[in-house]
Amino acid sequence: MHLSLDTLSILKNRSLSKVTIDSIVQAFLLASGDDTEVIYHRLSAGSYWTLEPESQENPVNGPLETIYLTAGRLKVFRDSEEITLAEGDHISFRPVSQQTVFYGDTESTFLYICSKPVFHHYRCALEEVNHLALTIEQKDGYTSHHCARIMQLSMKVGRAMRLAPSKLYTLQFGAYLHDVGKVRVPSELLNKPGKLTDSEWELMKRHTIYGRDILLETGLPYLTQASLLVGQHHERYDGSGYPFGLKGEDIDIGAAIIAVTDSYDAMTTDRQYRSAKPAPDAIAEIQSLRGTLYHPAVVDAFVKSLAP
Ligand SMILES: [Fe+2]
Repeated sequence: MHLSLDTLSILKNRSLSKVTIDSIVQAFLLASGDDTEVIYHRLSAGSYWTLEPESQENPVNGPLETIYLTAGRLKVFRDSEEITLAEGDHISFRPVSQQTVFYGDTESTFLYICSKPVFHHYRCALEEVNHLALTIEQKDGYTSHHCARIMQLSMKVGRAMRLAPSKLYTLQFGAYLHDVGKVRVPSELLNKPGKLTDSEWELMKRHTIYGRDILLETGLPYLTQASLLVGQHHERYDGSGYPFGLKGEDIDIGAAIIAVTDSYDAMTTDRQYRSAKPAPDAIAEIQSLRGTLYHPAVVDAFVKSLAP
């Protein structure tokens, strides 16, 4: 069957098997048969996607995996190697021998063809992420689109710090799901208009541990890696944070980034009990806490990435 972009756009609107994390990736199963699947992807600009090696005894016989870029521009990272794919380019692996990270330099659409069925597992994994993110937003009403904003800003900071692509991939999910533990905190507490009592505050602080555990419970490799960031996103550089009171470089750099972007987002968003600060005031406040609450290099990269 010949596939053109026109065909794709027609098929997309039918009842295809579809999975989506709106601000990161959408995937549609276009065709499958004889153990081969053709999956259409749309990756948002600035988002990451990976191919992971299979853990099997004889990797030489692993499936053939091909990416064919139909629109946009993708950067591909393997070890220290970096290549750019433009529209019409393709890249194949047999097998995928090491983690290969794809970065949407612009919004990009591509076909992913794999000689082994992967879509079912893939859909379960992405649906899990989507379900978790939606649950937080529904429960923690005032933070509408908070997850996506924190993720986008954290990725900007991470790129300004030149973090490795695999770290950025972990940061993408850690930042998106940083407050997922709030699904285990009672709604009355999350939406309490007044000040929390000491015991309520202790319970609220546990959203870090709950979040870490929720991601670990999924058993998915990329969420397991992101669990570290989620567990540490309220730690502070001088050791005054929670839940462990970690200090300085003992705090994962991804968590240190989320600490800054989450604080900035909180300062610049209206809350029930106070109105938003103008962005320049929030930036100045974060700069004044450089080296005390916040990692100095993260603050520098944050300021740089917000500069016009
Ligand atoms: Fe939090």
